[in-house]
Amino acid sequence: MTVAASQDRAFAGISDELAAELGPLRRGKVRDVIDLDDRLALVATDRLSAFDRVLGLVPFRGQILNQLSAWWFELLGDIVPSHVVAVPDPNVAIVRKCRPLPVEVVVRSRLTGSTSTSLWTMYEAGERRIYGIDFPDGMAKNDPLPRPVITPTTKAHTGHDQPLSEAAVVSGGWVGAERWGEVRSVALALFERGTRVAGDAGLVLVDTKYEFGIGPGGRLTLIDEVHTPDSSRLWRLATVESRRRGGLEPESLDKEIVRLAYAAGGYRGEGSPEPLTPALAAETTGAYRQAFEALTGAPLQPAAYPAETRIEAALRAMPHARRAGNGAR
Ligand SMILES: Nc1ncnc2c1ncn2[C@@H]1O[C@H](COP(=O)(O)OP(=O)(O)O)[C@@H](O)[C@H]1O
Ligand SMILES: [Mg+2]
Repeated sequence: MTVAASQDRAFAGISDELAAELGPLRRGKVRDVIDLDDRLALVATDRLSAFDRVLGLVPFRGQILNQLSAWWFELLGDIVPSHVVAVPDPNVAIVRKCRPLPVEVVVRSRLTGSTSTSLWTMYEAGERRIYGIDFPDGMAKNDPLPRPVITPTTKAHTGHDQPLSEAAVVSGGWVGAERWGEVRSVALALFERGTRVAGDAGLVLVDTKYEFGIGPGGRLTLIDEVHTPDSSRLWRLATVESRRRGGLEPESLDKEIVRLAYAAGGYRGEGSPEPLTPALAAETTGAYRQAFEALTGAPLQPAAYPAETRIEAALRAMPHARRAGNGAR
């Protein structure tokens, strides 16, 4: 089946009218979040964000990320419970509302990246102590690290996330020592599982970002999304080494495609970036789809567009949804 949804038909988000009927709405960069008291409806849109901004729409992006996350949450559930309650539509997850920890838990296995918080960006600028970790001289871009490292950042609601060391997470009072101990061992276990599963699928899980929350009973819970091409770097395993020897960047099946295309066009993260071109959006859909299909081992079943109708129906059918008129919550 061919995936064909033009950018102008892609899913930009739910309407204000629908949100007003269902519950308080928060528009994140890429998801619309409806508050349902003890639950949230996470509506994954086709908005693509990079450089902390929304650049444009990528058809099927929301579906791919929502369904791929759901797949991973299930697969990782023996390591840590996830927030997922139900997936009533390809773009929608009903999740348990948790108290999010104020740090993003990034795990990395390579010296790479192109953003201000990336290891390679800082290493290239001459830093050798990064996120509280010492790096030797003489490393090259994309080199593997001896073992995965945790590079936490603050979770900024506006502006850029700030790098922290693991020690600073605790000493700065971001997360208590005991809880952080739990977080770090869970994050490393998730990354190890993710690396193995990705490897079996012919991919390298280069790095990824986890968000954790405290759920009912004080239980550490994996929230947000997990091991997706938005929250991770994924490389095609078969060509990593040959391309490295040839001085080429690896084949990325993730958002790095977009970042590198903007960098090639001279954009350095300052000022307003140009909107995403249809060609780059289509390339991104293709890469995300390949990652989805390689990992899950199943073809993407493209959901119907325009997406608003089916998403609206799924949201209205939720037992928790507040409905206009009856006042029930
Ligand atoms: N189970 C959960 N409980 C509470 N908050 C959550 C949960 N899962 C995800 N979130 C939050 O919902 C938001 C998802 O929308 P997103 O578009 O990613 O927003 P942002 O622009 O803040 O990254 C994030 O702020 C994320 O931390
Ligand atoms: Mg987010």
